[in-house]
Amino acid sequence: DISVTLAGVPLTSCVYNASGPRTGSSAAMSKIAKSASGGVLAKSATIASQKGNDLPRTWHEDNGKASLNSEGLPNSGIDYYIDPKTISETMGESPTKPYMVSISGKNIADNLQMLQKISSTIESGSVNIAAVELNLACPNIVGKPTIGYDFEQMEDVMKQVASLPCFSGSKPLFPLGVKMPPYFDRPHFEMAAAILNKYKHIVSYAASINTIGNALAIDYHAEMPVIRAKGGFAGLSGPAVKYTALANVKQMRELLDNSIDVVGAGGVQTGRDAFEMILCGATAVQVGTCHWTEGPGCFDRICDELKAIMKDKGYGNVEDFRGKLKEW
Ligand code: DHB
Repeated sequence: DISVTLAGVPLTSCVYNASGPRTGSSAAMSKIAKSASGGVLAKSATIASQKGNDLPRTWHEDNGKASLNSEGLPNSGIDYYIDPKTISETMGESPTKPYMVSISGKNIADNLQMLQKISSTIESGSVNIAAVELNLACPNIVGKPTIGYDFEQMEDVMKQVASLPCFSGSKPLFPLGVKMPPYFDRPHFEMAAAILNKYKHIVSYAASINTIGNALAIDYHAEMPVIRAKGGFAGLSGPAVKYTALANVKQMRELLDNSIDVVGAGGVQTGRDAFEMILCGATAVQVGTCHWTEGPGCFDRICDELKAIMKDKGYGNVEDFRGKLKEW
């Protein structure tokens, strides 16, 4: 049994899609809904739709070990992702799994406005939105630092979000998750976790990691960066980032309050990768790059592989091994 409860939301599978690849339209997302993915998480939205950066803006290394992206948040705008039509096209008429929205505003005011829009839509009762992921980790916007690396700004975002009406009651109107950038040094983990713990009354999960920002790959023949925007500096993903991701999940699980779930993301492409994330303390696991390169069939395969590992090791459910990484 690979079902879990994430942020109070029941998922039939602990493996689901990361925001980003193949999540921009209801046509793409409906394929995730039909797969073994435990939920459907939409593409990071901005207030208005936007086209994103000039091409080429994505790249996959030949051997499949690494990918780069600097898409510049192409998306259809928040109204599209919370529209009952989009959600019914995505999930079908009687959804059996949760639909979740991701937001990545250009500034704090935009994030607040999107959260207000989502609140009104949820309150109107016209749609089922199971959770919202606030992206604190996009590295690809020219002139904007990654919020999760600017602790002052991160604290300010959380403070202002917490003061919204949808979070000022005794219980949040909806579960809020945060997508975190990777950290590489203990003091940074501690500072990030301290901020999230301070706002634990509104933060239901932390998803680690987004891409490793501002990586550079070079085209040997052209003697140019493989990506066009931002001088070629782009977010690194795929198997190359798995070890950084595992470390981030482990450290976040150690440092965050137990009321905040950790979602593992980064380089997951097999059931074994998902198993390792869960050993490090992940409640659920997101798949981004592998979904991008392999397509939505990856969810069925990864879930089957995880079930086979659990059977082999005699684990009946995910709780049997979650966070149980042994020490030397
Ligand atoms: C983009 C990349 C990200 O890693 C992210 O979190 C949001 C947007 C992008 O380039 O579109």
